[in-house]
Amino acid sequence: MSGYDEAYAKWQADPEAFWAEAAHEIDWYQTAPRAFAAESGVYGRWFEGATCNTCYNCVDRHVEAGHGDRLAIIYDSPVTDTVKRFSYAELRDQVGALASVLRGLGVETGDRVVVYMPMVPEAVFAMLACARLGAIHSVVFGGFAPQELATRIDDAAPKVIISASCGIEPGRVIAYKPLLDEAIEVATHKPDRCLILQRDAQTCDLAPGRDVDFAGAVGEALVNGETTECVPVAATDPLYILYTSGTTGQPKGVVRDTGGHMVALKWTMENHYGVKPGEVFWAASDVGWVVGHSYICYGPLLHGATTVVYEGKPIGTPDAGAFWRVIQDHEVVALFTAPTAFRAIRKEDPNGDLIAQYDLSRFRTLFLAGERSDAATIEWAQDKLKRDVIDHWWQTETGWAMSGNPVGLGGFPVKPGSPGKPMPGYDIRVLDDDGHEVAPGTLGNIVCKLPLPPSGFPTLWQAPERFLSSYMEEFPGYYATSDAGIIDKDGYVFIMARTDDIINVAGHRLSTGAMEEVIAAHPDIAECAVVGAADALKGQLPMGFFVLNDGVERDAADIESELVADMRAKIGAVAAFKTALRVDRLPKTRSGKVLRGTIQKIANGESFKMPAAIDDPVVLDEIAEVLRAWTRASNGNSR
Ligand code: COA
Ligand code: AMP
Repeated sequence: MSGYDEAYAKWQADPEAFWAEAAHEIDWYQTAPRAFAAESGVYGRWFEGATCNTCYNCVDRHVEAGHGDRLAIIYDSPVTDTVKRFSYAELRDQVGALASVLRGLGVETGDRVVVYMPMVPEAVFAMLACARLGAIHSVVFGGFAPQELATRIDDAAPKVIISASCGIEPGRVIAYKPLLDEAIEVATHKPDRCLILQRDAQTCDLAPGRDVDFAGAVGEALVNGETTECVPVAATDPLYILYTSGTTGQPKGVVRDTGGHMVALKWTMENHYGVKPGEVFWAASDVGWVVGHSYICYGPLLHGATTVVYEGKPIGTPDAGAFWRVIQDHEVVALFTAPTAFRAIRKEDPNGDLIAQYDLSRFRTLFLAGERSDAATIEWAQDKLKRDVIDHWWQTETGWAMSGNPVGLGGFPVKPGSPGKPMPGYDIRVLDDDGHEVAPGTLGNIVCKLPLPPSGFPTLWQAPERFLSSYMEEFPGYYATSDAGIIDKDGYVFIMARTDDIINVAGHRLSTGAMEEVIAAHPDIAECAVVGAADALKGQLPMGFFVLNDGVERDAADIESELVADMRAKIGAVAAFKTALRVDRLPKTRSGKVLRGTIQKIANGESFKMPAAIDDPVVLDEIAEVLRAWTRASNGNSR
């Protein structure tokens, strides 16, 4: 029996005992009378009755255990040519001081704090300072536009927002402060105060009476030796809200528990990632995504490992050797990133020549997640790196991998294209649309038998009904992942597609429904559809189709450019929306439902079955002709 089989069997035999044992790795003020309270919440609650503090477990306890000199954070920023290192003792001082500043601004336990920051260490300090106070952070990715930020501000109703004067993308500075000001202007809820980090690349004006200078306030607290003790909170209290795309323009506020989250993440560091305390773990993502929450901030720090905060890209900062340079310079043992980053590197350095220029002797494993890994990318990475390449599958909702290949438990042979087997904690099944289990190797809806393990989301922020309708009602007794796939006869999971309107662009989860709302708001447009077209670099790219109102005589090209600009202004650059095409009609069923799936297949050049309920099949030919004309005009562009 492999280490993985043993662990999975042990969990299956007694899930509660399995997680109760894992909970010994966490320091509690008060332990839970039992690991799992089956009768609480929607599907039970983990560690109900316990009290704890995530910041204490990430920071203070390592210092108290004598590891104050160990490196906690390495900030590596090729875009500002900066490297800074923070030991655990320095991290405690920074976070304690920031927490006391936040307290001074009125932040109490249970209050929300929105964090809208670039990839700087202060973003991690901010998350930890909130955790220290028992305040609930909600980090918003910097690539989202003011309107998206405003939606999150209105939902989370933060007392304070922490932001920065600017972010730095290769070759350009993005002023964050005007985006923040616009979001606050648009939002109905107004924060009491904003704490603004002034960056050298571009400073900003501070609004008198509202904005506070981050460095000044924290610097003063540090000089005065001000700190704040960690506040004990219930294990079932929220640590954070992270908004993720749903099928409408209103994002879903995924709520993360405090206690179960720590137990699960700590367990994964050694068992899944095979990393030891004191080693350097690098998740090349962004704190705005769940990967950044779990594996830039919380997982490595709970484990007493060193985490890398990287403000750069896989290519262009300065070249496709950037990742190898960081691995060498900081002695990284495990890297976690999205396959799109590797596709970008491979495109620029197909023979992997740059890899040989760096000393990667400490580097053991590459982990990929966030989108489907194509076999070619995995095989290229394996061949060039001569290391294990591990794909694993997870979602914002779970906070850690549902399926994977736990190298810390010895692992098992990789099947390219599969993100491994179910992790202990997850009983993954494949169901047909009527809820019956399908035979191995048959495509169906991927679900997890309830309860979800520790760290699984207990609800959506202020939307308990939506939690039930989106995830719990379609297949009673199971969590519906909205992913379709198969489990083969050897127990390997394969994720093939989403069953909803979500698309995955460069590892970023985006809602086509939200994009359609932007297009539909254009005064000249009668109706529209957005689909995800296959893209060799980013996996998918959004493509919009629109029908003009009767009588509109304007040039369609002008409207197309307006839509591209609208999308950037309303959703953000992250949407990577570059293509809007005018069509005379959209294909629909006889009951009026737009056949988005069929449009997507035509856009991808895939074969498709004529939908039985289609109203007028000729419309499909019209769409195909518009796409052919577009391909000719863009001269076969990147697709
Ligand atoms: N703040 C402001 N703007 C941002 C931003 C931020 N934090 N992050 C990205 N953007 C902008 C980019 O500048 C780009 O703008 P542009 O359209 O003007 O060029 C746009 O948002 C899209 O960004 P991105 O998806 O990063 O695409 P890219 O073309 O700049 O880079 C890759 C392509 C593949 C190199 C990049 O997507 C990448 O490194 N991906 C890694 C995947 C990842 O981190 N996934 C997270 C989940 S694990
Ligand atoms: P997010 O919540 O942003 O992490 O996005 C989660 C979605 O990304 C999943 O529902 C999948 O559709 C997709 N995804 C994440 N990891 C993988 C993977 N390893 N393989 C295939 N799809 C993945």
